[in-house]
Amino acid sequence: MSILVTGGCGFIGSHACVVLLDAGYDVVVLDNLCNSTREVVERVAQICGRAPIFVEGDIRDAILLESLFSEYEISAVMHFAGLKAVGESVAQPEKYYDNNVGGSRVLFAEMQAAEVKTLVFSSSATVYGDPASVPIAEDFPRSATNPYGDTKLQVEDILEGLYQQDSGWCIARLRYFNPVGAHTSGLIGEDPDGIPNNLMPFISQTAAGIRPVLSIFGGDYDTPDGTGVRDYIHVVDLVAGHLAALEYLDKNQQLLTVNLGTGQGVSVLEMVHAYERANQCNVPYQIVNRRPGDIAECWADTRLANQILGWQAIRTLDDMCRDTWRWQQSRKSK
Ligand code: NAD
Ligand code: WQD
Repeated sequence: MSILVTGGCGFIGSHACVVLLDAGYDVVVLDNLCNSTREVVERVAQICGRAPIFVEGDIRDAILLESLFSEYEISAVMHFAGLKAVGESVAQPEKYYDNNVGGSRVLFAEMQAAEVKTLVFSSSATVYGDPASVPIAEDFPRSATNPYGDTKLQVEDILEGLYQQDSGWCIARLRYFNPVGAHTSGLIGEDPDGIPNNLMPFISQTAAGIRPVLSIFGGDYDTPDGTGVRDYIHVVDLVAGHLAALEYLDKNQQLLTVNLGTGQGVSVLEMVHAYERANQCNVPYQIVNRRPGDIAECWADTRLANQILGWQAIRTLDDMCRDTWRWQQSRKSK
């Protein structure tokens, strides 16, 4: 039996391939390479000693999906394929609804037709909008502050509808906080095109001298040092949470909604200093205006994941910083 990993060449999907292959699953990757390269498949094979099957294609292609489900014995799907740049989603909302919502609809319809009803979906802490308090529990109200976030809300709702119509579905909606880090091999990691939107790749590129200075968006938040606070989680811990969810769904038919975070808030300045300390490097920074749409603080209540999945993040901030730097350094020799 194989697991279909949509978006398996991307940052999180590639690490999921590693954890699945290492756990003994066969893996079929479907990726249209709009934000990744096929080289990732070889790198995953280098790490695991065996390769996933790679199919270049789009989740919106119903005919391709139908043939995939008939050709391979797929028992479950991990669905990572999607666009994720918040700013771009504001500029081009239709592109995001078409890809993330439209694509998911096609995928779920083909799963239903093929009687493959076990799904792990990449949701996001963005569905909590601007939370009234922290830590954030799964029953907090949801809201979207941008089209990207709205696509996650919509797909969560579609999944709820599927489960209500047919309780044969086994679905995990995993709400990620801020995934960072890279595999310890330095072979796979996050490789953003152009200027990074997210903090960690920006810090790395600044430390590497690719960017002259990190702009810290806001030094006047109501947080201990005035900079934004987030729950950064190592991507290897994150994908271990996916494996735990898959194994849970194997025994329990239900619709599960779980936060994947560490439960610890870390400020931008703390992250910069942790990075410098861990890697003996220098990250020049300047404090600038707040970024529109940003919230002051966000971290997870992780009790449900601990209780239900028996999972918790174990990697430290130091691990996140060291592994990101090793990956960044390996990009030089690309
Ligand atoms: P990524 O861009 O690195 O990976 C996504 C992959 O999906 C890419 O390889 C891309 O080529 C592929 N893809 C996109 N649209 C596709 C389509 N229509 N058909 C086939 N392949 C397609 O992103 P990531 O950081 O690995 O994120 C994976 C998932 O997790 C996304 O759904 C994202 O929204 C969600 N998520 C990410 C974060 C984060 O901060 N990275 C946080 C919360 C949720
Ligand atoms: C983290 C902190 C910034 C860049 C985004 C999406 C969210 C989710 C994860 C997918 C904030 C500050 C950042 C920089 C900075 N993705 N920052 N200078 O905004 O928490 O979440 O990615 O679901 O939906 O919104 O992550 O890494 O962009 O920012 O000061 O150059 O770093 O203001 O406080 P964010 P981020």
